[in-house]
Amino acid sequence: MNKGIVIYSTGTGNTAYLAGKIKARFEEKGYSFDLFEVVSSSKRVDLSQYSLIVLSYPVYAFNMPVIFERYVSSLDLSRGGSYLICKQSGEPLSLNDSSDYRLLRLIAKSGRPFLGAYHYLYPYNIHFRYPDDFVKELLNYDSLLMDIMMAELERGTVRRRPYSLLRAFVGSVLKIQRAGAKLNSFFYKVDEGKCVRCLRCVNLCPTKNIRLENGKIAFSHRCIMCMRCSFLCPKDAIGIGMLEKWKVNGPYPLAKIEADPSLKGEYSSRFEKGFYSWFKKAFAEAEREHRHYFGK
Ligand SMILES: Cc1cc2nc3c(=O)[nH]c(=O)nc-3n(C[C@H](O)[C@H](O)[C@H](O)COP(=O)(O)O)c2cc1C
Repeated sequence: MNKGIVIYSTGTGNTAYLAGKIKARFEEKGYSFDLFEVVSSSKRVDLSQYSLIVLSYPVYAFNMPVIFERYVSSLDLSRGGSYLICKQSGEPLSLNDSSDYRLLRLIAKSGRPFLGAYHYLYPYNIHFRYPDDFVKELLNYDSLLMDIMMAELERGTVRRRPYSLLRAFVGSVLKIQRAGAKLNSFFYKVDEGKCVRCLRCVNLCPTKNIRLENGKIAFSHRCIMCMRCSFLCPKDAIGIGMLEKWKVNGPYPLAKIEADPSLKGEYSSRFEKGFYSWFKKAFAEAEREHRHYFGK
């Protein structure tokens, strides 16, 4: 039975893009593959249909999104086949690694095979907007990592980072972000002069936290800070409270950037210090591993 599924959570579309890439790669290998996005109203998937289950999510404050954690915890993983983790985040800091510790425990408890955990890189949807050339560099990295992942799966090499108590501790402290998201939602504001009542935010919110009330957009307090509403608002009309200075508005055209030959994807090579230089080690490691498996 070569049937797989990517069960994923996304705020602003990066994980959905990654999920599509994973599906396409496995379909090339003869799998049939489903995609399943977790939202607050998601019904439990019947895992017994799947020989391969890919769990995929964006990292929030070095943790999984709370709806994803709750959803996966509610499944009986012993009914599924083998498990693979594909997380993704805006930077390669090893602190992001502890975000999957709970998944690793759940998979171990299920007694089903664990195939490895891979950390993909996508642009920030919060803090600041990445330049297109850098997004291209990240997408190039992701493509190398996916080749490496497929090669390791074929060879039965299980990629897992060693457990770190320090990372687990920092991650658990930063779960405070989940309560912070609720608190911050008391400060969300819509600029009535800009809002055109297109209801995109109302219709797209994964936790159904946004509604139209007396002709105005109103927020409840089930926010998970995924940024979908403010990121995708076509009029940039949504203010996100204490995080306003970190707001990024407007989707990254990932497929267009990936296909654009004028973007060289060598952005980080200009930086010896600072944020962009953090990525160089991850890029060099992927190139080295890719050469190891593919000889070029
Ligand atoms: C509330 C919040 C917290 C985040 N925390 C982290 C983090 O700890 N580490 C990181 O590398 N990226 C972090 N990011 C960036 C996202 O992981 C990144 O932009 C991701 O690609 C978004 O995926 P999505 O489009 O599927 O939601 C954070 C984003 C948000 C909205």
